[in-house]
Amino acid sequence: MDAKVYDLINDQINKELYSAYLYLSFADYYADAGLDGYANFYMIQAQEERDHALIFRKYLLENDRVPKLGAIAQPDKTFTDYMGPLQAALEHEQYVTSLINDIYAAADEVKDYRAMQFLKWFIDEQMEEEDTARDMITKMELFGEDKRSLFELNQEYAGRTYSVPSPLAAE
Ligand code: FEO
Repeated sequence: MDAKVYDLINDQINKELYSAYLYLSFADYYADAGLDGYANFYMIQAQEERDHALIFRKYLLENDRVPKLGAIAQPDKTFTDYMGPLQAALEHEQYVTSLINDIYAAADEVKDYRAMQFLKWFIDEQMEEEDTARDMITKMELFGEDKRSLFELNQEYAGRTYSVPSPLAAE
């Protein structure tokens, strides 16, 4: 594996674990605010981000490379309203999309077609995650001021359940 592709994938393990940590902090904010449905949504999101890290780990190991695990940064965001984490989530996912694109570009440069194929799952995943993040912002904009509607939105997010992502499903 090309050294740059290896370094970027290795860094991505750390970035995905940071994402899990970041979303855990969002879940903490909503749990403290009494919005347990939103807290549930971000708890599951944190699980998914950990899974993303494990998918990159698995890819390195299957290609005879050992992951190098580094320190995970502290999530440092503070929020003053219910919209705050939702907007931070969209910005974060857009950033993660740019990271995935950078890995794809590095793989393309050295004709690493296997890595490019592997990354396609993440390219699709990022589109879904950005779409979901935008949808949550829109719903909060439309209905967040009304207590009854906010209660119902919270109920909706309480129904989110975890499922193992397909690249890990065979494990
Ligand atoms: Fe691992 Fe939310 O992207």
